[in-house]
Amino acid sequence: MHIFSQPSDVVAWRLSQQTCPIVLVPTMGALHRGHLELIREAKKTVGPHGRVIISIFVNPLQFDRALDLSSYPKPLKDDLALCEEEAVDAVFCPAEKSMYADGHSIQIHETLLSRGLCGATRPGHFSGVCTVVLKLFMITGCTAAVFGCKDFQQLAIIQRMIRDLNLPVKIIAYPTVRETDGLAMSSRNTRLTPSHRADAPRIYQSLTAAAPIHEVPQMISAAEKILLDGEITRIDYLEHVDAETLQPALNRTRPSVLAAAVYYDDVRLIDHIDLPAIH
Ligand code: PAF
Repeated sequence: MHIFSQPSDVVAWRLSQQTCPIVLVPTMGALHRGHLELIREAKKTVGPHGRVIISIFVNPLQFDRALDLSSYPKPLKDDLALCEEEAVDAVFCPAEKSMYADGHSIQIHETLLSRGLCGATRPGHFSGVCTVVLKLFMITGCTAAVFGCKDFQQLAIIQRMIRDLNLPVKIIAYPTVRETDGLAMSSRNTRLTPSHRADAPRIYQSLTAAAPIHEVPQMISAAEKILLDGEITRIDYLEHVDAETLQPALNRTRPSVLAAAVYYDDVRLIDHIDLPAIH
């Protein structure tokens, strides 16, 4: 397994792979079972003659809170051991300096899908995501990249960036991986206190319990009641949006999404459920 820390070394490696398809799994490390499933999906997609590269980079540009960035887990040694076990071809784990030159002044701004949900309360977050993802696409020369559906707004924005900038990268969207109690897997889960961890399955429970309710205000109230019944410190948002435009949806005549972001102390967790159109 190759381990690269410099973008130029990744470029040299992928040029030496000639026409092999390359699949990228972009991560911020602290790899868990969810990531391993993304890696396995990448291997399956690329086949025996392709290459899988994992990026591990806690991208400072996408963090709006200094504490969230400084407390983000960074177990690089363990991550590399897991990548080795999964037999990935290459890992790219750059230092901040080699990704962002001093005085870097270009960023990608998405202006529509990023306005609401996480974009409303995390200023600059999606510009940071788009900028780093575009850089990772350019550096790795990947033909496809695997993203988890858990971050569905991120996924929609990256799909939009690919469409609007004509990027020759195919996105493979992988379903949310959950713990046995239903909590969506996230590197942030390890930062929950034992009591908050025991409470956190209520996030998904609130969404699944509300999903059969056809009237949107009642659906949102039902989910809110379950969220507020436990140890959640505060709800960042609980919203029903159109699945395509991500704009607030007042009814369920089109495919939609019920999405939540909550805080347990300073740990922010997100989850969502896809809802079919009701006619
Ligand atoms: O989803 C993530 O882990 C990050 O937002 C990503 C896509 C690796 C970009 O830093």
